[in-house]
Amino acid sequence: MKKTFLIIFLIINSLAFAQKYENLALTPPMGWNSWNTFKSDISEQLIKDVADAFIRDGYKDAGYEYIIIDDCWALRERDENGNLAPDPEKFPNGMKALADYIHSKGLKFGIYGDAGRKTCAGYPGSWGYEEQDARLLASWGVDYLKYDWCSTMGRDPKEAYKTMSDAIYAAERPMVLGICEWGTAAPWEWGKEFGHLWRISGDIAPCFECIVDHGSYKDWGVMKIVYMREGIRKYSGPDGWNDFDMMEVGNGMAVEEDRSHFSLWCMFSTALIMGNDIRSAAPETIEILTNKDAIAINQDPLGIQAFKYTDVDSTEVWVKSLENEEWAVCFLNRKSEPASLEFDWGEHQIQDPDFDYAVDFSKNKFKLYNIWAGERDGNTKKPLKARIAGHGVIMFRLEK
Ligand code: GLA
Repeated sequence: MKKTFLIIFLIINSLAFAQKYENLALTPPMGWNSWNTFKSDISEQLIKDVADAFIRDGYKDAGYEYIIIDDCWALRERDENGNLAPDPEKFPNGMKALADYIHSKGLKFGIYGDAGRKTCAGYPGSWGYEEQDARLLASWGVDYLKYDWCSTMGRDPKEAYKTMSDAIYAAERPMVLGICEWGTAAPWEWGKEFGHLWRISGDIAPCFECIVDHGSYKDWGVMKIVYMREGIRKYSGPDGWNDFDMMEVGNGMAVEEDRSHFSLWCMFSTALIMGNDIRSAAPETIEILTNKDAIAINQDPLGIQAFKYTDVDSTEVWVKSLENEEWAVCFLNRKSEPASLEFDWGEHQIQDPDFDYAVDFSKNKFKLYNIWAGERDGNTKKPLKARIAGHGVIMFRLEK
């Protein structure tokens, strides 16, 4: 009798509670993903070269870890056993060998799947194959699954992501689960139960302010994603992050715009997933992507997403609490011409609208560390006077 009760209890429990590998993303995941630059033009050689560039150009040292193969890695059909099969022309040695290569460099391996019948590019989806696919990915050594939402035809997103989360758990290999549902079913409200981050938007485009209209869907410039959702920062934090999409740094914007894009992604504590061709990145691109002081803002253990405190003419003032009662403040010039900024710290008392952090600059003095200049730059007792390039930023760490 006791045994029957125990079994019933276990069944009810497993239905009611999702099983998620906890604590895999206590700070926002950092890595590289193939999609923004390469789309279907991916291969084993590309991924190995990317892994080599992680070491050669200092990305690994800066904290980047995951190398993620996006859509188009599989054959158009499952194999005779119903398994997903890597395209042998693109990945002649299979995924296990590639994962081994990536792991041998001290890095982690990520891959892409889809909760529907087909992926967004028309390859087999995992609907109905979750356990089998999770076991296969686990056997290859996958550490991160980006799980997309195409061809889901009325499927309930919570059920879909729970099913894959449970399948990963059952396959007994910890994997970060990236929910890629684009924010239509408010994943910030439920995503943390099943996954570690959730996209809040459609796809990013390599431009600062534009919208690329494809007819049935749109791609979004950096600032469009920044302003896409209201009121969701309170949901983001350790092990469950709002995901502002993979970065477009190095993909054609002006250097100032790239720096602003990166600064905002750091301020937002969103995943730092590079989306450029890092095999041949320009020195200024590498400099942006590997700035350790900016990355430290992104990786701050409190994991608080910045909020917009105010506008000073065309300059937006973004503010983020850091551990040890420090702050990050990013001044962003929204217009394309240079702006003059005057900001008298002493006139500002700042209260975080969602979290219990506040500062009164008339009472508390901080030293200013100018992150992009890489130097100490006065303190908050003196009004800040600065010139900011069009679409540019000045970002400070306020130190005690
Ligand atoms: C969707 C996702 C993108 C990318 C493509 C691949 O559009 O949002 O990030 O993964 O699918 O087809």
